[in-house]
Amino acid sequence: MKVLVTGAAGLIGSNVVKILEERGDKVIALDDFSHGNFKNIKDCKCEVICADILKESIYQKLPKIDGVIHEAAITDTTLKDDKLILMVNFEGFKNVFNFCAKKKIKLVYISSAGVYGDGPSPMKESQNPKPLNAYAYSKYLCDCYAQKLMSKKALPRIVGIRYFNVYGPGEYHKGSAASMIYQLYLQMKADRRPRIFKFGGQKRDFIYVKDAARLTVEALTLKRDVIVNVGTGKARSFNDIIAALNKTMKTNLEPDFFDNPYAAAYQDFTEADINLLKKNFEHPPKFGLEDGIHDYVSNYLNK
Ligand SMILES: NC(=O)c1ccc[n+]([C@@H]2O[C@H](COP(=O)([O-])OP(=O)(O)OC[C@H]3O[C@@H](n4cnc5c(N)ncnc54)[C@H](O)[C@@H]3O)[C@@H](O)[C@H]2O)c1
Repeated sequence: MKVLVTGAAGLIGSNVVKILEERGDKVIALDDFSHGNFKNIKDCKCEVICADILKESIYQKLPKIDGVIHEAAITDTTLKDDKLILMVNFEGFKNVFNFCAKKKIKLVYISSAGVYGDGPSPMKESQNPKPLNAYAYSKYLCDCYAQKLMSKKALPRIVGIRYFNVYGPGEYHKGSAASMIYQLYLQMKADRRPRIFKFGGQKRDFIYVKDAARLTVEALTLKRDVIVNVGTGKARSFNDIIAALNKTMKTNLEPDFFDNPYAAAYQDFTEADINLLKKNFEHPPKFGLEDGIHDYVSNYLNK
């Protein structure tokens, strides 16, 4: 198969590229390198295209391909530039979508658990979306657009993926938008007590990038159009992260609790309902939090 991966230099895109190449697929890696890091794909054999998904002319130059995995997006949810977020994440998505429709190509595009906002957990694909920021709203718009065109059979296959909190190798460029696991690791590696909101009981559904990327690649072969959660189905606390890091780093650092400045609008609990995932994919996520952190620290961060 020949697959176009957009956002290929980013955290998840680069892991998707690796999996595709390992299984023998030909990859075209597209990124504008505005945020991702070339080091994430420097060892890959893929053809690299440095381009902006907003530029319609780029699609005319692409060779014949069998599938698209569309990861490119502005991913910093705290960015204040709503116009840029909506342009890249929604208009850029539409460009990719229309290209796939014209060429009759399968599309796996990326939405986000952010669309659920402060809705109830476990979060089900069928519940009412409640986007709380421009980033989440941009993903919600993509889902609405995709859903409308699924019913018209506009593409041979459309799969939307709602990742929960992804962490793992390849996220080093993300700064304050990197996972809590990476940020706490850096503090503990510097022999500082890990700083978390009082009293560390807040829970999130953390999914290791190896699982997230594997499921995204598998999505290219699903038999039906669907928008599906990609999480572990098990929320874990910030205290759990610190315990797992202490264990694998052989440290004994106590959390340093501080008041949550966002307490009034903070989600204390998010968890994916993964019934639809289990129904559609052959293998559910393999890595629990402890296994994922162990693999990440010992095979990547400490190397
Ligand atoms: N990481 C998570 O926890 C998470 C959770 C939910 C959804 N997502 C979604 O998953 C996808 C991948 O996220 P990630 O964590 O790998 O983010 P990332 O920021 O590491 O990667 C995004 C990539 O897109 C590229 N890009 C940005 N604008 C572009 C443009 N106009 N044209 C071409 N390339 C462009 C960036 O340079 C970057 O390499 C995104 O769609 C994101 O919204 C991620």
